[in-house]
Amino acid sequence: MDRNLALEFVRITEAAALSSAKWTGKGDNKAADQAAVDAMRKAFDSVRIDGTVVIGEGERDEAPMLYIGEKVGSKTEDAPQVDIALDPLEGTSICAFGGVGAISVIAVAEKGNFLHAPDTYMDKIACGPAAKGRIDIDLSPKENIQRVAEALKKPVEDVTVVILDRPRHEVLIADVRKTGARIHLIGDGDVSAAIAAAWAESGIDLLMGIGGAPEGVISAAALQCLGGDFQGRLKFRSDDEKERARKMGIKDFERKYKIDDLAKGSVMFVATGVTDGPFLKGVKTLPGHQAKTHSVVMRSKTGTIRNIEAHHHLSLKPQVDFR
Ligand code: FBP
Repeated sequence: MDRNLALEFVRITEAAALSSAKWTGKGDNKAADQAAVDAMRKAFDSVRIDGTVVIGEGERDEAPMLYIGEKVGSKTEDAPQVDIALDPLEGTSICAFGGVGAISVIAVAEKGNFLHAPDTYMDKIACGPAAKGRIDIDLSPKENIQRVAEALKKPVEDVTVVILDRPRHEVLIADVRKTGARIHLIGDGDVSAAIAAAWAESGIDLLMGIGGAPEGVISAAALQCLGGDFQGRLKFRSDDEKERARKMGIKDFERKYKIDDLAKGSVMFVATGVTDGPFLKGVKTLPGHQAKTHSVVMRSKTGTIRNIEAHHHLSLKPQVDFR
């Protein structure tokens, strides 16, 4: 995969972030998400790829744009065939209510290297490079936290676990509290949280708990680039979800997915902050109809992490709707 493509992908997440950020705190989830989807879909047209969305806005019958299976990119003859896992606005409510950690994100891999995850839940565990190979979703929270503490050479009391604040996590939260570890509860955005677990100086060491399965694939792609670890297991809410999963090729509903089962090969990961978060600053508006964005570009092949701060003259960008 041409490494220069990474810069093209940043332009796409920047466009989505700029467009959705104007809805920050306005309480309108739908408008924030739609703005990100429209901008991302439009920006894809100019990128020289023959891309297929494998993780997107949903199935074709429910998502008119960036749906699973949609072809994106300029699709010229010499364009590389790639699979794309995307979320134009990860943390829709975060953006709509002005919270922490909304991002726009795209992960890219050569064809066939992302799990085609159904739109259901996934039980997840994620950590950074120091604890890679030590976490196991089949172990208790206590055992996993102890292993991470050992790997990080710090007491269990200094390990911070990030967990989505949901009633379904009542037992998990109680179990983690019993170990003495610290907990960082978040309202939304477990992709940002998974990345934070592998991001130096984020203060987060481990992600645990159940979130969206598509977000699990995106998180695994990011963690491949960061050298971290991730495991997941699908959690179905209904027989209908199982049936949809079966149609997408999932046979074993109890399977433990390791990081390579979710995202493998040469992976590229790009994200732009919409609101301030643990590893990216959000969109900042500046006088004179200008704005600043902060993005990250990572590649699993080299492990290079690039932070890109961009200064935008919005009046010169008619293709992005940020007014
Ligand atoms: P959206 O951006 O699609 O709203 O997802 C936000 C999110 O918090 C994800 O990060 C997480 O995986 C999922 O929702 C959790 O789902 P639920 O809100 O149903 O617990």
